[in-house]
Amino acid sequence: MFRILKADFLAPEVKRFHIEAPRIARKRLPGQFVIVRLDEHGERIPLTISDADVTEGWISLIVQGVGKTTMALNLLESGDLIADVAGPLGVPSHIENFGTAVSIGGGVGTAIAYPTAVALKEAGNSVLAIVGGRSREYVILEQELGEVCDEVYPTTDDGSYGFHGFVTEKLQELLDTGRTIDHVLAIGPIPMMKAVADVTRPYGIKTVVSLNPIMVDGTGMCGGCRVSVGGETKFACVDGPEFDAHQVDFELLTLRNRTYLEFEHRKLQEFQCRTQSGDIT
Ligand SMILES: Cc1cc2nc3c(=O)[nH]c(=O)nc-3n(C[C@H](O)[C@H](O)[C@H](O)COP(=O)(O)OP(=O)(O)OC[C@H]3O[C@@H](n4cnc5c(N)ncnc54)[C@H](O)[C@@H]3O)c2cc1C
Ligand code: FES
Repeated sequence: MFRILKADFLAPEVKRFHIEAPRIARKRLPGQFVIVRLDEHGERIPLTISDADVTEGWISLIVQGVGKTTMALNLLESGDLIADVAGPLGVPSHIENFGTAVSIGGGVGTAIAYPTAVALKEAGNSVLAIVGGRSREYVILEQELGEVCDEVYPTTDDGSYGFHGFVTEKLQELLDTGRTIDHVLAIGPIPMMKAVADVTRPYGIKTVVSLNPIMVDGTGMCGGCRVSVGGETKFACVDGPEFDAHQVDFELLTLRNRTYLEFEHRKLQEFQCRTQSGDIT
């Protein structure tokens, strides 16, 4: 059992948990994730390790409530227990001194962009962060990124805060002003990651995305997380989740992620009925 030490909302439906997991905290590297199972009947869901403290023995996860399991998780509070937290899993981010690196996070993707931004800075890069949200309240971790990055640009779709527009438009603006950018990491919704790849492709800027296919075991055995990269089939859980953005087949990833939509929708409705009737066990 894994104890929740702290839980707080960063944005509507986006909650940050500090979870007691000293062994994972010791081993984890930026870019890695865990597979979480709330209880013995629960489904397994992948969540990125956003931060960790080796001395205090915790990892932090930032969770956006989008379906049954993430919404159930976001009902938990400090002191509650989680049945399984398995990890760290996945290949750590490739970190080196590229020169100027831009870390781009869309919505909850910022939770994943954060640890890599920290590592890129530690490796000697000049690090710029672009953090996007639908509106001001959805921009997360701006302060934390400000403490490690050279420049942070919040963007909002509705213009309620920071740059008015998408993260890709801010990136394009930086490129138009002649900024030299050597490396881009983008994490967020699939259309956002694809759009970032389209912006950087003509400039030949190495661009990495962290893919979010459906995962089950997280160990390379079930095949659930198959993605196509450069025409080759890869398993995101063991070959990724980070891949060369210019090689990813985003259309196939979108289609595969829709496979269980009907089932997911039904499970969410059942969960909502149970929470409304007070039966949330
Ligand atoms: C390596 C990896 C790291 C991740 N890290 C985080 C994280 O740090 N924080 C976070 O909030 N989420 C993260 N996700 C996404 C998270 O795993 C899904 O949101 C979660 O599995 C949805 O489960 P659910 O039962 O709540 O919703 P479901 O009912 O399973 O799905 C609800 C909706 O979310 C979509 N969805 C389902 N699975 C995924 C997925 N893997 N990625 C994107 N959309 C999905 C469905 O298509 C559906 O529209 C990560 C995914 C991967 C693969
Ligand atoms: S999640 Fe099963 S092979 Fe990747």
